[in-house]
Amino acid sequence: MRYSRRLDRIPPYLFAQIDRKIAEKKAQGVDVISFGVGDPDVPTPDGIVDRLCLEARKPENHRYPSYFGLPEFRLAASRWLERRFGVTVDPSCEMISLMGSKEGIAHMALAVLDPGDIALVPEPSYPVYAMGTLLAGAESHFLPLEASGGFLPDLEGISTDVLARAKILWLNYPNNPTGAVAEMDFFERAVEFSKRNDIILAHDNAYSEITYDGFVAPSVLQVDGARDVAVEFHSLSKTFNMTGWRIGFACGNSDIIDALGTIKTNIDSGIFNAVQLAGVEALDNRQQDVDRMVGIYRERRDLLVSLLTSLGWEPSRPLGSIYIWLKVPDGFDSVGFSEQVLDRAGVFFTPGNAYGPSGEGFVRLSLTVPDERVQEAIGRLEEVFKVG
Ligand SMILES: Cc1ncc(COP(=O)(O)O)c(C=O)c1O
Repeated sequence: MRYSRRLDRIPPYLFAQIDRKIAEKKAQGVDVISFGVGDPDVPTPDGIVDRLCLEARKPENHRYPSYFGLPEFRLAASRWLERRFGVTVDPSCEMISLMGSKEGIAHMALAVLDPGDIALVPEPSYPVYAMGTLLAGAESHFLPLEASGGFLPDLEGISTDVLARAKILWLNYPNNPTGAVAEMDFFERAVEFSKRNDIILAHDNAYSEITYDGFVAPSVLQVDGARDVAVEFHSLSKTFNMTGWRIGFACGNSDIIDALGTIKTNIDSGIFNAVQLAGVEALDNRQQDVDRMVGIYRERRDLLVSLLTSLGWEPSRPLGSIYIWLKVPDGFDSVGFSEQVLDRAGVFFTPGNAYGPSGEGFVRLSLTVPDERVQEAIGRLEEVFKVG
């Protein structure tokens, strides 16, 4: 059998290697505590599950859903954007439902890029921006995110040759994996840059609701005129502990939304109506659950940051996202340090270079580990790594 050349372009998946390593440890009887995957450990709030059960029983919800999302869902999402960011979006043409934002992000590449085109992709980053680009037959031009630059890309340093072929700029703040946040003035500069260079600005705002210490994450659509060039991706996954439900939405420039819709109508047939109506319940009525989750993540962040600091290591203290970005101690690289922690303490941190070459020298810890396991991991790390 022969497969597409496209598959040959997909690099070996570092996460598969990592899974193997963890599986080996488990097979040896080690009770591994993994800070790897960013998948909320706390269940979806009851009110959302109850609404799903109610709606799942209604025969009218059993048929094919609307391609662009139920009007009720798009209205709820636009009400939420208005309440949260003061942004008004027309739910009939500036919004589309997504089967999780990952799906929309990957399909954006098919809507925008042809072979020979360039996507401007920050790194380290969520892998889907670059993988979508690759599957569309286009190229990623990587923009390194470095601690010295606040993990923001240097847009003005991009060469004119690259800009001439660039069609889309990806951004993601609060950021996975670095936990960095961006202020409004950065988004203003990004919108101006995108307009000047005739580039689509795609902002992945999956962690907009998970912020700490008074920081409130902006939407790119709050920038005046952003709608000329920008779309924003939102996800209910992390906000409402709904990763398994597969629901999110994209909003912004109506032509870009329409282009994404054209790809999607030919590939998927929308989200189960009952899930969309449960999404309406989440967006309209579940702010108290979001606040409770943010409180839980903040406590875990504080516990881990103080432990890691006491071990002489240098963790970030993120203002957003569910990730701590930890600089590896001198003498280690990312994979070496991750292996050391796994071998000696049975604790797993993801090597930073899994997210791009500029992630070398860091590991990522996800805060989605239950409290008692966080305590257990802290005990083990203290025992093994405490100096003096
Ligand atoms: C930055 C970022 N964007 C998007 C997603 C995808 O979320 P979902 O497809 O569950 O909406 C994730 C998931 O980890 C993420 O970290």
